[in-house]
Amino acid sequence: MSSEVVSRGLENVIIKTTKLTYIDGNNGILRYGGYAIEDLVEKASYEEVIHLFLYGDLPNKKQLEYVRQKLFSSFEVPDQAISVIYSLPRDSDPMAMMEAAFAVLASIYNPNWDKKTDKDRALEMIAKTATITANVYRAKEGLKPKIPQPAGSYAESFLTAVFDKKPTEEEIKAMDAALVLYADHEVPASTTAALVVSSTLSDIYSSIVAALAALKGPLHGGAAEAAFKQYVEIGSVDKVDNWFEEKIVKGKNRLMGFGHRVYKTYDPRAKIFKKFAKSFADKDEKVKKYYDIAERLEELGIKEFGSKGIYPNTDYYSGIVYYALGFPMYMYTPLFALSRVLGWSAHVIEYVEEQHRLIRPRALYTGPEKREFKPIEQR
Ligand code: CMC
Repeated sequence: MSSEVVSRGLENVIIKTTKLTYIDGNNGILRYGGYAIEDLVEKASYEEVIHLFLYGDLPNKKQLEYVRQKLFSSFEVPDQAISVIYSLPRDSDPMAMMEAAFAVLASIYNPNWDKKTDKDRALEMIAKTATITANVYRAKEGLKPKIPQPAGSYAESFLTAVFDKKPTEEEIKAMDAALVLYADHEVPASTTAALVVSSTLSDIYSSIVAALAALKGPLHGGAAEAAFKQYVEIGSVDKVDNWFEEKIVKGKNRLMGFGHRVYKTYDPRAKIFKKFAKSFADKDEKVKKYYDIAERLEELGIKEFGSKGIYPNTDYYSGIVYYALGFPMYMYTPLFALSRVLGWSAHVIEYVEEQHRLIRPRALYTGPEKREFKPIEQR
C-alpha cells in the first residue's frame, strides 16, 4: 500500500447507497426523497418530512395523523434524562448535556435492534429529542423543567415548551422551516459517526450519542454559532470591511458559515435561511443589525473566495433566524441536532436493515521497522 491510497478526510469515499437525500454540489441542488428542498420548506411540514424519511414518501392524511399522534404521545422522557441535564453545571456545554441525556435513554430502553419497531422507536426518539433540547435550554437558563405538550405542530410544541409562551404563526413557520432544512444532508461527519456505531449493532440511542459528539465541533454543527459570533464581534455594518481585511484576508482565519465539502456553489439551504432572516430583519431593528452585517460580509466573502467554490453554507444565516426566534447562541448547535436526529435515524435504519456490514477501515502503517526490545534500564 502506498500513501496515495489514503483518502484524507474520506473525501469522495462512498460508504452506502441512499434513497434519502440527493445533493448536487456543483449546481446547488438538494432533494429529500426526490422532492426539492425549496418545495418541502414552502409546502410541507416537518412531520410530513419525518414520514418521507422514515417511510419513503410524503404521507396521506391518515399517515400524517399517525406520525403526529405518535410524536405527540411520546414527549415524556425517563426522569433520569431530565435529572442528568439539571444535575450538570449551568455553564456545561449544551451538546454534552444532550449526549448525557441520550446515554440515559440508551441505558433505560431496550437496546436490541428490532425491524418491526424501528420506525416507531425513531418517531418516539424524535419526540423525546424535543423534550431534551427544550430542557437543555431551560436548565441553562435556570428555569423549571417542562415537557412539550401536543399543539398544532411539532415546531409549536417545542417552541412553547422552550419559552413558556405561545409562538406567533411566523415564528412557528420559521422553526418548522429550520427543522426541515437541517433534517438530513447525506453522510456528513455526524451521520458517519452514527453509522460507524450502528454497524457494530450497538443501539440507536448510542449511535445518536456518537452523532451528537461529532456535530459539536466548529467545522460541523458548531458553525452556526461561530458564524453568528462573527456578526456580534463586528458589531456594526460600517466595521465589516475592516474586520474582513484584518481577520480573514491578513489574519488568514476561516470565514465561518462559508465553504462546504460538497457544495462548490451557494448552498440552497442558505438561500432559504436568508429569506427568513430578511423577513425578520424587516420588522425588527435588532435582527436587522446582524442581517446587514452578514449581508455585507457575504459580499466580501464571495468576492474573496467565490472563485475557489467557497460560498455561504446553511449555517451562515440560520443563526440570525434562531436569534430572531429568541434563542441564545449556545442553542444553535442543539437546534441543528434537534432536527438532524431524523436524518441520523433514517440513515442508521437504512444501513442496518438494507446494507449492513461492520465498518472497519484500515490505516497505512508508517512507523519504524521491526525493532529489538530493550529493557527499561537500557533505554
Ligand atoms: N474560509 C476561508 N477559507 C476556506 C474556508 C472558509 N470558510 N473553507 C475552506 N477554505 C479554504 C481552506 O483554507 C483551504 O485553502 P488552501 O487549499 O489554500 O489551504 C481550501 O479552502 C480547502 O479547505 P478544506 O478545509 O480542505 O476543505 P474541506 O472540504 O475540508 O472544508 C469545511 C469544508 C466546511 C470544513 C470548510 O469549508 C470550513 O472550515 N468552513 C468553515 C466552517 C463552516 O462553516 N462549517 C459548516 C459546514 S456546513 C454545515 C455542516 O456540515 O455542519
